[in-house]
Amino acid sequence: MPGGHPHLPMTAPAFPTYRPRRLRQSPVLRRMVAETQLSAQQLVMPLFARPGRKERRPIGSMPGVCQLSVDEVLKDATAAFAAGVPAVLLFGIPDIKDEKASGAYARNGIVQQAVRALKKELPELLVITDVCLCEYMSHGHCGIVHRAAGKILNDPSLKLLARTAVSHAEAGADVVAPSDMMDGRVRAIRAALDVGGFTDTPILAYAAKYASAFYGPFREAAESAPQFGDRRSYQMNPANAEEALREVALDIAEGADMVMVKPALAYLDILHRVKTTFGYPTAAYAVSGEYSMIKAAAAKGWIDERAVTLEALLGMRRAGADILITYSAKDVCGWLKG
Ligand code: PBG
Repeated sequence: MPGGHPHLPMTAPAFPTYRPRRLRQSPVLRRMVAETQLSAQQLVMPLFARPGRKERRPIGSMPGVCQLSVDEVLKDATAAFAAGVPAVLLFGIPDIKDEKASGAYARNGIVQQAVRALKKELPELLVITDVCLCEYMSHGHCGIVHRAAGKILNDPSLKLLARTAVSHAEAGADVVAPSDMMDGRVRAIRAALDVGGFTDTPILAYAAKYASAFYGPFREAAESAPQFGDRRSYQMNPANAEEALREVALDIAEGADMVMVKPALAYLDILHRVKTTFGYPTAAYAVSGEYSMIKAAAAKGWIDERAVTLEALLGMRRAGADILITYSAKDVCGWLKG
């Protein structure tokens, strides 16, 4: 039988003419037969907006990342855009947090201000907003809390999420990205956007978002750690893959235009299955903990930050990601150029 293995060419085993190293002999040849490309066009850079002026508050667990006042958001976004980053993902840290996340949908909320400033000064920069309540809730949960019952209430939270998405669109957001993991939120947001006249605003749904320890540094960055309990009653169990496909199917049925898998590196199997099953535009979020691990090991001289970051992102592309959300986006643009 020729070959003997479905992935080998039709060659008699006694005459092994297929020698993989032939195509690895020169950089030109290696690049020419590379199956996966990494390019700046795919990158999204998260930014944290906070009140004030000329404020740059470094986040201890995420070296190189700061909470920025809107003027500084503009400065960093301008630099990133000039370096080749085509899109940002905005998070907000409000002055006041309460039990109904008022800051999330305030007309002049922190994200709304940042969006207006960005769209005014950098109209070509794609502005994606994270739609969630946790940064704006005094208790840090992604939905309304019923304290006596010890529950995160699903349906009452949908109204607030929908209001938040509409207020982002009103401010000029190009894409809204719900990350709360309440059931039915994509439908609620799509309906509210449509009623509000934003039928052309796409939804990037954090569809398969896991209850992950890799979010640790982000919660310092966004000051959004839950004050009690954890997020396991709404975010996914890391043990589950089939369920991720149901979550994605549901979000698509409810009107998601793009879907996301988060975190990225420990969930490449999910990324691959989501892309091959649905063929939808798919984003991978290389989350805070993934970034911090690389930064910390690089600072100790244990790994090469550039090589490891590019390899990890290439792995996400190979697994099926079209869009890469990474805190290293601006550096990556520089590394890809030279
Ligand atoms: C908000 C949200 C989180 C992240 C993105 N959106 C935190 C969480 O769910 O606890 C994490 C991003 C990161 O770790 O980089 N719900």
